[in-house]
Amino acid sequence: MVKNKQKYKQLLEFAKQALKFSYSPYSKFKVGAAVLCENDKVFCGTNIENVSYGLSVCAERVAVWTAIANGAKKIKAVAIYSEKDSVTPCGACRQVIFEFSKNADIVYNDKKGNIKIIKISELLPKAFSI
Ligand code: THU
Repeated sequence: MVKNKQKYKQLLEFAKQALKFSYSPYSKFKVGAAVLCENDKVFCGTNIENVSYGLSVCAERVAVWTAIANGAKKIKAVAIYSEKDSVTPCGACRQVIFEFSKNADIVYNDKKGNIKIIKISELLPKAFSI
């Protein structure tokens, strides 16, 4: 776990960098995400809002879809960075992450900057699956 925490510190740093590109003029809530793939490649995303609010998309989905669109097949971890305390993926993003790994680690920060790690299966128990 200590080893993982160190590795995930780096992943969270990628998510923090991605937050800078957040397009969130409506909510003013910036989020960055970074996906660690099975082949150790990292892809980032940020939340992108729309004047038609329902079309807005979370940082996590942008990051996962970017990873898949670039050839990733499975993901190992998703880091989420926000300036608020302990933000974890919304329900829709949990289902999207679960699609590409039933065992992904979800990495996030608390307000003090401490790293937290939880499994996607803990965040989405009894997930829909066929
Ligand atoms: N948001 C994310 O990007 N990720 C989350 O985990 C929670 C919410 C975004 C969506 C929207 O642009 C803004 O934050 C406010 O909900």
